[in-house]
Amino acid sequence: MKLDIIAGARPNFMKIAPIIEALEKVSDKIQYRLIHTGQHYDKKMSGNFFEQLGIPEPDVNLEVGSGTQAEQTGRIMERYEALLLKESCNWMLCVGDVTSTMACSIAAKKLNIGVIHVEGGIRSNDITMPEEINRMVTDSITDIFYTTSEVANENLRKLGHDESKIRYVGNTMIDTLLKNMPRFIKPEAWDENQLSEKAYFVMTLHRPANVDQEAQLKKLIDEIAKGSKGMPIIFPVHPRTAKMLKGIGIEAENLHMIEPLGYLEFNYLVQHSFAMITDSGGITEETTVMKVPCMTLRDNTERPETITIGTNELVGTNPDNVAPYMEKLHKGDWKAGEIPYLWDGNTAERIVKDLLSL
Ligand code: UD1
Repeated sequence: MKLDIIAGARPNFMKIAPIIEALEKVSDKIQYRLIHTGQHYDKKMSGNFFEQLGIPEPDVNLEVGSGTQAEQTGRIMERYEALLLKESCNWMLCVGDVTSTMACSIAAKKLNIGVIHVEGGIRSNDITMPEEINRMVTDSITDIFYTTSEVANENLRKLGHDESKIRYVGNTMIDTLLKNMPRFIKPEAWDENQLSEKAYFVMTLHRPANVDQEAQLKKLIDEIAKGSKGMPIIFPVHPRTAKMLKGIGIEAENLHMIEPLGYLEFNYLVQHSFAMITDSGGITEETTVMKVPCMTLRDNTERPETITIGTNELVGTNPDNVAPYMEKLHKGDWKAGEIPYLWDGNTAERIVKDLLSL
């Protein structure tokens, strides 16, 4: 079996790491090729994750770089197709919902290569998100779905996908989290900001709905700073958000903006924090497993189990919603949360066992 594995942007890297590790053990049966599309290319957004998670150097880097949605999609499709025409494979495995996921799926499927989607079936039902379009397109041409939740399975059934294509295996992002927990590294920001256990917030924001309009971004951050009651807020800033923040002028003594962190440093901070504030999807899965309270600044989520089972609450993007949730946190009135079924650290092993049967 010849298998291509696609990785393009930061949230892909922690999802592929355990799959590659498990594949190494069956290298006599499955020959894999790791393709980095180059959607994320900075050391801070890409290289550090490869190093820290022990992911081997990609066999190929398509080096597509930044661009609009269509520019990136077009470049990835063109370059991946050219590669496949030179040297093909039988199966292509992609993860998550980034532009690279969709673009490689289309290029592969049009050459009659089988498409495997890890984390298939999740839906926010918010078509204004580029990720939702990526999920819908990818799933519509996927042959094998490896899913993370019963809600995802149900979504796929409703779309008419045959039961035999849907394989509930758990969450590879959690494999990486559980494996690396003993290796988490205290970042410099800890001493620099005199942090102490469970006495600071961690915040990340990068969704267009929150960061692409100055007024919205400023109001959100102001409300969060107000609601924090002076507790430090550590804010590793995504490049997209950094561009917007330059013009705004936010002043809050306890808000500490820092560069994007490595995987081991970021999760150390999250694990020891009082609470997380984010508009990410993947982070809500990690906080669920680490039992850290999480406020999600989005109006919807493709990961409802982090709310119904985990420690997450959907606060919304309206800055006026922030205060009551922060009050709840300060009162210690947050749910404890449970861990979803099969988020147990062994998902990649299950995937590779199944791949052997294809
Ligand atoms: C992408 C994903 C999103 C994911 C996020 C995590 C899509 C549609 N979105 O969004 O799902 O949560 O990654 O980070 O695929 N940039 C750099 N250095 C880099 C990469 C990007 O400075 O290494 C800059 C780009 O020039 C651009 C901005 O960051 O201005 C956004 O990058 P892009 O990959 O287009 O989308 P993200 O917002 O990162």
